[in-house]
Amino acid sequence: MSRTRIALATCASWPELDADGPELVAALAAEGLDADLVAWDDPAADWASYPLVVIRTTWDYWDRHAQFLAWARSVPRLVNSADVVAWNTDKIYLRRLQAAGIPVVPTVWVAPGEDFVTPDHPFVVKPSVSAGARDTAAYDGGDPLATEHVARLHAAGKTVMVQPYVDAVDSAGETAVLVFGGVVSHGARKSAVLTVGEGEVALGSWSMQARTPSAEEQALALRVVEVASSWGEDLLYARVDLLPGPLVIELEVTEPSLYLTLAPGSAARFAAAVAGRLASLSSGAATPRS
Ligand SMILES: Nc1ncnc2c1ncn2[C@@H]1O[C@H](COP(=O)(O)OP(=O)(O)O)[C@@H](O)[C@H]1O
Ligand SMILES: [Mg+2]
Repeated sequence: MSRTRIALATCASWPELDADGPELVAALAAEGLDADLVAWDDPAADWASYPLVVIRTTWDYWDRHAQFLAWARSVPRLVNSADVVAWNTDKIYLRRLQAAGIPVVPTVWVAPGEDFVTPDHPFVVKPSVSAGARDTAAYDGGDPLATEHVARLHAAGKTVMVQPYVDAVDSAGETAVLVFGGVVSHGARKSAVLTVGEGEVALGSWSMQARTPSAEEQALALRVVEVASSWGEDLLYARVDLLPGPLVIELEVTEPSLYLTLAPGSAARFAAAVAGRLASLSSGAATPRS
């Protein structure tokens, strides 16, 4: 088998990939793809030398959003692409999904300068650009502390999302549906992250386990990927996160954790999707949709 060297984009804080890194690298190798791990902001990186750069653990850009988008634009063959990264790193895309008929968690968007009205039921406050539950908290109805939280996010220039606290997450958890190359690969269950009235949480203070998504969840995830693919190009990888309902809470197509260790065969499916994309790029087939 001829071998090809590709890059997996990481970051200085997570240079060794996610916990499933070894499975991922081995599965790529089995497809003839040798992976270099390269931090996205490594000034010595030669991105143009790779036939494909796959975003993986670029998790430290949250306070350097513009720099990250500029980096994505500078990489010739990036998946998912810079256009996808540009819309996906601000959860305002949930509005477009909703407009396309997708059930999403009901959200009030409060931009800096706009008035925040404290809900009278348990609710969540979070920034529209975030990851890992950063700056995210759940409050009891009427809690005055939320006003300070919103003011702090507004002072940082952030648009705030206010949502009802979907309390069924406490027992049922959140369901992640992983879609590779337009096909459902596997699912995962994430335990509830927030506790109403307890303020912000420590990073990583939740657990993941295997879960087979229901037929309804799988169908919804595929619809989400289909709608989002119609905005530009076919998404190579996607993670659709669902709260009980099911309601879409997030579509992660920039740098999702893939939880490959939880599902046998999933690393091979991801690697096959990457190899397929590389083959279509080398044959000059167009991935963008008109
Ligand atoms: N409306 C909500 N109801 C219940 N839990 C929520 C809600 N919004 C967020 N959470 C909890 O906070 C976590 C992080 O929120 P999320 O919107 O996924 O942002 P991100 O993962 O990008 O930080 C979720 O995994 C979920 O456990
Ligand atoms: Mg999330």
